Order: sequence, then C-alpha cells, then structure tokens
Amino acid sequence: MRALSEQLSACLGQAFAAQGLPEALGQVRPSDRPDLAPFQCNGALPGAKQLGRNPRDIATAIKEKLADEPLIADIQIAGPGFLNIVPSDAAYKARANALAKDERVGAHQLATPQKTLIDFGGPNVAKPMHVGHLRSSVIGDALQRIGRFVGHDITSDIHLGDWGLQMGHLITQLEDEQPDLPYFDADFDGPWPTQPPVDLDDLSRMYPQAAALAKADPERMQRARTATAQLQAGRAGYLALLRHFIAVSRAGLEVDFNALGVHFDLWKGESDVNPLIPAMVEDLKARGIAYLSDNALIIPVERDDDKKKQPPLILVSSEGSALYGTTDLATILDRKNSLAVERILYVVDQRQSQHFEQVFRAADKAGLMAQDTLEHIGFGTVNGKDGKPFKTREGGVMRLSDLLDMAWQAARQRMNEAGIGEGMDEGALDDVARKIGLAAIKFADLRNQRLTNYVFDMDRFTAFEGKTGPYLLYAAVRIKSILRKAAAQGLSAGEIIPAAPEEKALVLALDQFDAALYGAWDKRAPHILCEHTYDLAQSFSRFYGACPILPEKDAAVRTSRLALAALTLRQLETALDLLGIETPERM
Ligand code: ARG
Repeated sequence: MRALSEQLSACLGQAFAAQGLPEALGQVRPSDRPDLAPFQCNGALPGAKQLGRNPRDIATAIKEKLADEPLIADIQIAGPGFLNIVPSDAAYKARANALAKDERVGAHQLATPQKTLIDFGGPNVAKPMHVGHLRSSVIGDALQRIGRFVGHDITSDIHLGDWGLQMGHLITQLEDEQPDLPYFDADFDGPWPTQPPVDLDDLSRMYPQAAALAKADPERMQRARTATAQLQAGRAGYLALLRHFIAVSRAGLEVDFNALGVHFDLWKGESDVNPLIPAMVEDLKARGIAYLSDNALIIPVERDDDKKKQPPLILVSSEGSALYGTTDLATILDRKNSLAVERILYVVDQRQSQHFEQVFRAADKAGLMAQDTLEHIGFGTVNGKDGKPFKTREGGVMRLSDLLDMAWQAARQRMNEAGIGEGMDEGALDDVARKIGLAAIKFADLRNQRLTNYVFDMDRFTAFEGKTGPYLLYAAVRIKSILRKAAAQGLSAGEIIPAAPEEKALVLALDQFDAALYGAWDKRAPHILCEHTYDLAQSFSRFYGACPILPEKDAAVRTSRLALAALTLRQLETALDLLGIETPERM
C-alpha cells in the first residue's frame, strides 16, 4: 500500500482529470499548515489558468467530485483556491495497519537496481586518519546502507591512499633506520621476509618524522621522491615493503573501522591499479586524449563555458610519476572492467572538488564513464570551537581511536549524571556507553546538510535532549521497555485504530518514511532521514504523553496503542540502522 499522500494524489488526480485537467495537478503533499489539515493540494491555481476559469470554482468542483471519497473526511477551500485535505479515519486505519504488516515499514523497493560503487573512507597508509576521514566514513556508510535498502546493488571500497609520496617517505625513513634490510639491496630479488619490519606504532611515528626531515632538507626530499618513482616503476624490494606497510596499516584500520561499525566490501587502494596504468597511458596517448606539455603528459579538461579556469589533469608528471588523478582514472577503468559499475559516488571532502571535476571530465573524454554517472559527494569540515579545523588539545590531528574513546567517556559521564544504567554490570554499561557514544558522533555528523561545516562539541552531541543521537536511542529504548512490560503482563498488540489526534499525528509521521528514505538517497542527503527519525521520536513522545498504553482499561484501545508503539519502534530502529546507529536494549 502506498503512502497516504500518494493515495490522495491518485484520488485528486482523477478529480482533476474529470475537469479536463492533467492528473498531475492533483499532487497532494503534507501541508505547510498542519494546524488546518494534514495535506494540501494547490493544483486548482494552475488548472484555472489553463482553462481560463476561476480557481475557486475549480477547487469547488474538485471538492464536490470527491464528496463521497472514502479516503477523505473533509476538503476545505482556502484563499484563492488551495485545497486542504483531511483523510478519513478509515484511511488512517488502513495505512497504519498496512505499515504494521509491512516488513519494510512503509518503504518501497526499487525495481531497477543500479550497480553502484561507493568510494569512501580513503585513509592514507602511514598518515594518521583525521576527522575528514571520519566524516567520509560516517556519511559513506549511511549512503551504502540507504542505497542497499532502496534496492541498489552497492559495492563499497575504502580506496586506501597507498601510492603517493608518503610511501617514498616511509621507505627512506626505514632505510635510514634499518639500512641492512634486504629491501634496500637493489640486486636482491627475494624471497622477501614474511614478517613485517615495522609495526603500527613504528608506522605512525615514521611518517611525520620523515616528512619533517624532508621539509627541512631538500636532499632528503629528493630521496623520498626518487624512492616513490622507483616504487612506481616496480622496484621489487620497495614493492615488498609496500605490501608490508599496507598489511600493517590495514590491521590497525580494521580495528578502528570495526569499532566505528563501518564495513567495506573492498579494501583496494591506489597501488592496486598500478599495473593498469602503462597500458591506459599508452591508449590515451594513441587516441590523442593525452599529450605532452612541458614534459608532463596531460589531459586538458577545460570547456568553453567554464566560469573559472580548469587546469588539465596531469597523467604523468615531468618526473615520470603517476599522480592522484592518474590512479583515480585507472581505478575507474578497473571498476568498469572488473565490476561493471554503472555509477560511482565519491564521498570525499568538498575541498577536493576540483580534483574530481578534472577526473570526471577526463574519464568522460576518455570514454571510460559518462560524467553524469560519476558524483562527488562532498562534505564540509569539522571545526573546533575556535572555528578552525578540529585538532587535539596539543594541536595535532585527532586519531579516530582517540575520538571514539572520548565519545565513550563522555557517554559514560552523561549516563552517570542522568542515573542511566543503574544496576547494570560493567560489561553492560560499557556496551551501552559505546552505543550512545557512536550514536552521538554519527548523528551529530549526519544531521547536518553535508556541505555545511560544523563545530565538534562532544557535550552537545551526547546530550539526551534535543536533536541528538542519544535522544533517539532513549526514545527507542523507552518503547522497548513498554513492550517488555506489556509482554510480562501478557498483553499483546492488535489492530490499530487511530482515534486521538496524537495517534493520527503519529501515523502521519510513520507514513513519511518512504519519502524521507528516497529523499535521502536521491539527494545523497542522510540528514533528511535524520530529520525523519527526530520527527518520529517526537510524535511518539507526544502520543505517549497524551495516550496511556499499559494503564488503558479499554482492551481494544490498549492493543491498538501497543501495536502503534511496536510499529514506531520497528521503523525507528530501521531508520537508525540505515544511519549506522545501533540501539541498546536498555539504558
Ligand atoms: N586518500 C585520500 C585523502 O586522504 C582520499 C581518497 C578519496 N578517494 C578517491 N578515489 N580519490 O585525501
């Protein structure tokens, strides 16, 4: 069964058609003035223009035509000819019970899935992850969940940054620290040691150290560059080292991403497409798409109607290295060939928009994928309270694991203050604090329009009041507790008969899920789904405040309210799960 607005649109459409007008004019949507009626239709105004008639006359004709429509209790004509529509009790009842029976709690599924790749996360081997990578992970994960739920065939790829100058820095640094390792002997060709020469702590120490040395010393910088070029040219010892660096780094990243509850189908990286680059470059040269300019091989991407200058994509630098754009192009080739993807979403900091514009134009020019199938899903920065990008107290980049620890601690403190979790053992408390901490961080991120910057404020994120993750968890847990008590009293849910205004308002909120879900997917805007979860929790709260459930004496009313509560919980948990947020059983 479709959403109420769609059912009503179908009725109104027929009524407009009977006036010789297009059905589309019967479009019904949630009202801007819910105090007057839950739904509105403004089609009489354009309809009147088309027919050269008075809009109020058209509105009156529509109203008369629908006088006996069972879905509609009342239509009021307002102002110049707006139609305010009140659904019938029967319409509310049918919709509520259909939702309660529907496994997908009201969300339809797409008939034509598209093979879609989501490129997100993108941490760099050796460089610490920063909050930008956190945003990418949280937004990308929500999009992969939402995309799958609507019915697309989604593959996610972390796309590790493992092919740039940072690898040259690591190699150089290791050579200075442990010059006797076989990797630095150009004549040695294996077999290579299976044990990595470094651990995760070494890696996180080495990159900043090497980068600082190179900054101060041009000769050292040149060594790092040369090592990068030799790696890219396939020097066996360096490739063997690269594999160690990636493996060590991945093991650490997996711990972090597991803690965050984010999973990737593919753990590929920039380095994986290196073997594709030579043939791709040759082909682009042969077809005249890439050519030499100042010793670099470039693909020009500017267009006549560009408002600002678009620099060319540099395919091979004058030093012979592949750059960021090169691996991104080769990765498109790989995704097309090995996965037959039809669309790629790149969930990456908005500050990389020019890079993606270049890559997409170049991919289009090269006939790899059309530009409108490649989307940069940009996002704003996370700032500290000083308005500058968020840093640790010491001024460094915040590590994901430290950030999560901070969130868990803040959650524990909030729980203490609110007296939540009394009587729970340490393990259970910890589990709840983790869920609250994650919900706090994820919801605080996702509730914003992607492109806006936001201020990192753990106190605000973990509050139990307001538009926060913990508030939503609390709402879900409260319903769980009601349902547990009902079960203990042997009470069961039954047919839903919405009667009180708060019951009807809750059904209307539940009815909006499908629209919110597709709004979030179509616009790549998880905040639309966040808004829905918040509306739903608030509608439930008003319903619960006005309509007793367990104490209700009338059995039919009580079972109806129980069913409404159970339905709300199911939809709330479904929506939260799509945002990557898990609800505890108790708190
Ligand atoms: N590693 C990059 C960074 O840290 C992000 C990678 C994004 N994905 C891509 N296909 N370029 O900035």
